[in-house]
Amino acid sequence: MGTRMKLGVLISGRGSNLQSIINASEAKDFPADINIVIANIPNINGLRIAKKASIPTKIIKHECYKERESFEDAIHSALTKAGVDLICLAGFMRILTDTFVNRWSNKVINIHPSLLPSFKGLNTHKRAIEAGVKFSGCTVHFVRPNMDEGPIIIQSVVAIQPKDTPDSLASRILAEEHKIYPLAIRLIANDKISIKNGLVKIKGSVTPQTTLTNPA
Ligand code: GRF
Repeated sequence: MGTRMKLGVLISGRGSNLQSIINASEAKDFPADINIVIANIPNINGLRIAKKASIPTKIIKHECYKERESFEDAIHSALTKAGVDLICLAGFMRILTDTFVNRWSNKVINIHPSLLPSFKGLNTHKRAIEAGVKFSGCTVHFVRPNMDEGPIIIQSVVAIQPKDTPDSLASRILAEEHKIYPLAIRLIANDKISIKNGLVKIKGSVTPQTTLTNPA
């Protein structure tokens, strides 16, 4: 097997998606490893998860930097030092500048808890229920300077039930997030992904681009 892709995971909280990537990377055939976890907030659960898995961590507090550019320079140099090939945003609650995103062109991916381009931003589950949509889900996409925009790699669809609350919907969608984030990384690291005219093409037709979850 060739060299495994080196990941840098950026987090701001709970770290359940980080945990799903760690779990996936334990498989012998997973083509990537996490080289560094960077958090902008100290004492978060995600940092405990990384430490438990013996992954190097770095806390870069945004509040210690006057400008976003210098905060991002610190992130950039930590990622570069760690030899990172692909940045995975996993609940990272800072918006990245155009400069950072363009510096890491097509090397930053994000997971978002809705079927993009619907429900960008926060409180996605509450907003989906209030809008009366019958399906929601999650999306892994390449990051572009505009928030929650960029070529879609993979999505998973979850049916919304009449009795759903934002919390109950969130927990079913989170279970799907934990499946598709490692899958997206696998596709990228196995060189199965190309981007043409802003759209992702997946080489071969074996891997589904969309999974449909049955109602709970
Ligand atoms: C997830 O719902 C993810 O889709 C969103 O932020 C949340 C992070 O959760 N971007 P966790 O920290 O991975 O548990």
